[in-house]
Amino acid sequence: MDNPAVNGKKIAAGKAIEYIKNGMTVGLGTGSTAYWAIQGIGEMVRNGLSVRAIATSIQSDQLARELNIPMVPFSEIDQLDVTIDGADEVDQQLNLIKGGGGALLREKIVASITKFYIIIVDESKVVKHLGQFPLPVEVAPFGWEIVDRRLRQMGAVPKMRMKDGQPYLTDNQHYILDCAFGEIKNPEKVHEEVSAITGVMEDGFFNNMANIVVVGSASGDTRILARP
Ligand code: A5P
Repeated sequence: MDNPAVNGKKIAAGKAIEYIKNGMTVGLGTGSTAYWAIQGIGEMVRNGLSVRAIATSIQSDQLARELNIPMVPFSEIDQLDVTIDGADEVDQQLNLIKGGGGALLREKIVASITKFYIIIVDESKVVKHLGQFPLPVEVAPFGWEIVDRRLRQMGAVPKMRMKDGQPYLTDNQHYILDCAFGEIKNPEKVHEEVSAITGVMEDGFFNNMANIVVVGSASGDTRILARP
């Protein structure tokens, strides 16, 4: 594990899974940091922990099933005790940009029913202001050009996310416009404006949602940021 970012991610995940206790319902995040948390929970289950889980993407769902983590449908639960997920950027108020891995809509649905929402990141994700990472905006394929135009009118520079020469499709069969806004000093206001555009399914702002952010450093330390 020479890569400091990978190390930081794994360390943060290892700390976060300490919050998971027997009998809990757990939300499983998506991405290269959440991967380590799912692996860790898999190990806890192997050692006798009893939990039920919901995943934020097909990929994480598959990984969890491979690790024999019991998965539960939404019809059987109203609330999750804990969710552990990654983020692309975290600001000083613990507002987040997420969706670099394309799972933002499912991630936000899962976050919205979570009692204790834990974000795990390496040091590189903690920023003064959001916006260096382009904001992912998940949009309906029908009429996406209209949404693109509205976002440009707001001052963003949207870019269609591509995969193998085709627009990338989310697990929900939507497109993603990655929007460069420059420095975002008021994420709540920008979120309000973006999410008011018809055709936007969800944006990558997760404002006032994280209860704690566990930051892992390559040297093996963790620090915990709590929402003010
Ligand atoms: C997935 O859509 C994202 O929200 C991820 O949680 C985010 O992109 C962080 O990913 P990494 O942990 O791979 O950096």
